[in-house]
Amino acid sequence: MRIVHTIPELRQALAGATKTAFVPTMGNLHEGHLSLVKLAKERGGPVVASIFVNRLQFAPHEDFDTYPRTFERDCDLLRSVGCNVVFAPNEEELYPEPQVFKVIPPPALADILEGEFRPGFFTGVCTVVLKLFNCVQPRIAVFGKKDYQQLMVVRRMAQQLALPTDIVAGDTARAEDGLALSSRNMYLSEAERAEAVQLSMTLRHVQLALRNGTAANLPALEREAMDGLRSRGWQPDYVAIRCRADLQPPTPVQREAGEPLVVLAAARLGKTRLIDNLEI
Ligand code: PAJ
Repeated sequence: MRIVHTIPELRQALAGATKTAFVPTMGNLHEGHLSLVKLAKERGGPVVASIFVNRLQFAPHEDFDTYPRTFERDCDLLRSVGCNVVFAPNEEELYPEPQVFKVIPPPALADILEGEFRPGFFTGVCTVVLKLFNCVQPRIAVFGKKDYQQLMVVRRMAQQLALPTDIVAGDTARAEDGLALSSRNMYLSEAERAEAVQLSMTLRHVQLALRNGTAANLPALEREAMDGLRSRGWQPDYVAIRCRADLQPPTPVQREAGEPLVVLAAARLGKTRLIDNLEI
């Protein structure tokens, strides 16, 4: 496995490759990230993983400075699953000057849900992802369903800008109790970690209610789920039942027609903000 830190080194490492598969990450890798690398491996071409904590997608009050950086361990893990190239640029390499050209995703997709609570987040994500794509020039790129809205936004960007990169989705890897794996889980205290499973249990509950047809109406079900979390000491930002295709609330006609849905949630437990989702 080659570890490169600059764009010219990366280009040289990939010279002649046509079937490159790419897994962008911010490091502090866990089984979720590794499952995406394994999925990328199945395509047969060289697999590139990037490790870059992207300042552009963090708001000033967010955890950019304290975001866990575990480079050596990340490289060991990537090597163990057969990754071919690690691209780990430093900030000056990727942003040698202020990044004033940005990719601004459409508000209908990027200013809802996560975007409502993290303004500018998806502009930061799209900008770095397009820039990383231009560095790596991948044939496919793998993103996790764990960040469902991010996956949708990147997929739409690739379509609308006619990028030569297919966006492939990987399933959410979970701990045994159901908690979605996340680099931010390490911020949780022992007691919080035990409680954290309630987020995925809440989503399961909503999923079952919808599947069994016992839900009276969707806003009531969302409200109940948020109240349940609140009563256990969480501060939920949203629990939202949406169409998978565009993340908009389903119309009655869409519900009737069995439009595929997804339930998404974000909630704070103590100082840690967790997100999760389940396809219905
Ligand atoms: P990061 O949070 O490191 O996630 C990198 C990739 O791993 C994303 O596609 C994410 O959805 C996926 N992932 C995270 N947890 C997962 C889990 N439990 N199961 C499966 N996949 C999981 O997402 C980012 O970084 C950044 O926004 C990035 C795309 C790298 C741009 O900076």
